Amino acid sequence: MSREPLLSVEKIVKTFGGFHALDGVTLSVEPGEILGLVGPNGSGKTTLINVISGLYHPDGGRVLYRGRSIASWPMHQRARQGINRTFQIPKPFKSLTVRENVELAYHFARQGAMTVDNALDFTGLAPSADRPAQSLNSSQQKLLDLARALAIGPDLLLVDELAAGLGPQELHHIADSLRSLADRSMALIVVEHHLGFVNQLTDRVIVMNAGKEIFEGSLTLAAEDATVSAVYLGT
Ligand SMILES: Nc1ncnc2c1ncn2[C@@H]1O[C@H](COP(=O)(O)OP(=O)(O)OP(=O)(O)O)[C@@H](O)[C@H]1O
Ligand SMILES: [Mg+2]
Repeated sequence: MSREPLLSVEKIVKTFGGFHALDGVTLSVEPGEILGLVGPNGSGKTTLINVISGLYHPDGGRVLYRGRSIASWPMHQRARQGINRTFQIPKPFKSLTVRENVELAYHFARQGAMTVDNALDFTGLAPSADRPAQSLNSSQQKLLDLARALAIGPDLLLVDELAAGLGPQELHHIADSLRSLADRSMALIVVEHHLGFVNQLTDRVIVMNAGKEIFEGSLTLAAEDATVSAVYLGT
């Protein structure tokens, strides 16, 4: 039996000077579910994460969280209510150490959040805990961003492109870890270009193109879908 969605996004439109970055996207995610969000560059994935997390206000459509419209909730309120995200281009406090960055986030921890040490272990950053964040490479900065989000204790975690730059073993480890979060009933939306990583994470993907969803289903079926192939191959 299917559960109530934790998040429902209905017919979201977001325009920038007349350009439709999002053109009526609809999707939902249940507690404990991992949804993969894939699509070519510029298809609107990050814009959708920005709308859900409250960084952008949509020009149309609704975002429902636990069945309530959250249009009037600013970003910090969404975070307090359990909606947390990572950034495609993270911006840690560079002069602070890795641990201090996570501690800052932990200051806003919700009940049940991971401890700072657990978040560092979880992301494999424990050995780098005392290094300044500016000494991390870009994939480590993404992991730090993930640790920061986890230290707040999300119920809905929006992950924007974590895989780039990570090796196969690290990816495997992170995929296992993210699945363990879903096993503990966290919902995740994972934006990703690395389809092998998506495949390790989830069976359900939405493929976006030009601000719309063009496919929903398994990655295997997506690969066989004529519209999806046309979009990826540019035909
Ligand atoms: N703040 C903004 N101002 C103007 N245009 C924007 C803005 N944010 C996004 N866009 C445009 O909206 C479209 C969707 O961008 P978005 O970043 O959501 O794509 P994406 O699917 O995340 O791409 P990528 O895979 O490259 O990260 C692009 O054409 C982008 O240039
Ligand atoms: Mg993006």
